[in-house]
Amino acid sequence: MAVTSIHGMWSTRLAFILAASGSAVGLGNIWRFPYAAGEYGGGAFVLVYLICVAAIGIPIMMAEIMLGRRGRQSPINTMRTLTAQEGRAGSWQVVGWMGIVTAFLILSFYSVIAGWALAYVFRAAAGVFNGIDGVAAGEIFASLVGDAERLLAWHTIFMAMVVLVVSRGVASGLEKAVRYLMPALFVLLVVMVIYAASAGDFAGAVDYLFAPDFEKFKGHAGEAILSAMGQAFFSLSLGMGAIMIYGSYLGRDASIARNSVIVASMDTLVALLAGLAIFPVVFANGLAPDSGPGLIFQTLPIAFGEMPGGQLFGALFFVLLVFAAWTSAISLLEPLVAWLVENLSFSRVRASILAGLTVWLLGIACLLSLNEWSGFTVFGKGILDLFDFLTANVLLPLGGILIAIFAGWKMARASSLDELRLGEGLAYRAWRMLIRYVAPTAVMLVMLNALGILKL
Ligand code: PHE
Repeated sequence: MAVTSIHGMWSTRLAFILAASGSAVGLGNIWRFPYAAGEYGGGAFVLVYLICVAAIGIPIMMAEIMLGRRGRQSPINTMRTLTAQEGRAGSWQVVGWMGIVTAFLILSFYSVIAGWALAYVFRAAAGVFNGIDGVAAGEIFASLVGDAERLLAWHTIFMAMVVLVVSRGVASGLEKAVRYLMPALFVLLVVMVIYAASAGDFAGAVDYLFAPDFEKFKGHAGEAILSAMGQAFFSLSLGMGAIMIYGSYLGRDASIARNSVIVASMDTLVALLAGLAIFPVVFANGLAPDSGPGLIFQTLPIAFGEMPGGQLFGALFFVLLVFAAWTSAISLLEPLVAWLVENLSFSRVRASILAGLTVWLLGIACLLSLNEWSGFTVFGKGILDLFDFLTANVLLPLGGILIAIFAGWKMARASSLDELRLGEGLAYRAWRMLIRYVAPTAVMLVMLNALGILKL
């Protein structure tokens, strides 16, 4: 069993927590969570989401870190090595391959949305949002999204930023960045919540987010539950190997259970704070909570336009949103880059450029789907929406099921006992029960139900 990875190691245990939180906290928390919650009526969605994080997310995160640390390679090679080590048959490296496809699809649209955030840094700083109302905010957003050339420029800049960091290796560049950026993002988010509490309809937002009203699920309960579960996978970066590869750079002495709980809690806190920053503004301005992917780009600017110092705070906020997206995007590219280095002996720089270029090309299809190609739809969705839906609600949960089955059923009890080091007590037995029975069946039932194959 390799003690270290050939790609390098985190310098400290804190570095792992920061990097894994950097992966988890991203557009998923601030852009996706509020609009997904808004689409399904708020509180009931949030409650199902929290249950998914606790009962499915944390156990699978532990499993991913455990597999990564035991295999110490890219997810594809880690799964191959562990399958042999555990004396099992089967092509479990398919988990790694699926993860790479999923990462490509996610990153291609993720980069386009991160590009929106980049564009908004400059709009906020220039004072474009000063004194605007909901209608004006909508128009500013529509003119950006309708302009393929602008979107392409921002998408290109963002992908270049991602390739730059990945090509330098995660340990040195990224580690230092997340150390300052994550706390800064957190502070600014709290500032936004305080502003929203004083100027917006805070009580309405709290009620909307925390009073579950299952009436709102009526008619599409299966789909709503699938979305909440998919959001948990997406937000925690689970099911495609990002957390697995970060685990492969983690030292033997770190507690996997404790680190998983910390990362999942931070991620959840940021998502809830984002909701508390956004919905008061939505309600106070008579906007619709279910306006979809444009939600934060049409609501936050109104708040920035009204608050004292909003020009500065607004610009800063979008800068940090870009940084949050950046630290997540890096973890999406890393598994493939590590594999190219391991198997094809590519240099890290060459591997990063090749992987980045491929994602960039696919991203062009995503951004065109918002304007020039908006007539082209599959299952009623444009390419960007389709990739978003397919990855979060199908591919990540599917990857999660396979990881759970491998960790719970294919790996010897002795191996997981040795790696998790929880002893034989309640914590280990609870994990094993969740990973063997609860996680795979729950995910499967939710998916089959949403596909209409099974009626619950
Ligand atoms: N967790 C990231 C976010 O919430 C997205 C992500 C998904 C990153 C999957 C890595 C893997 O923005």
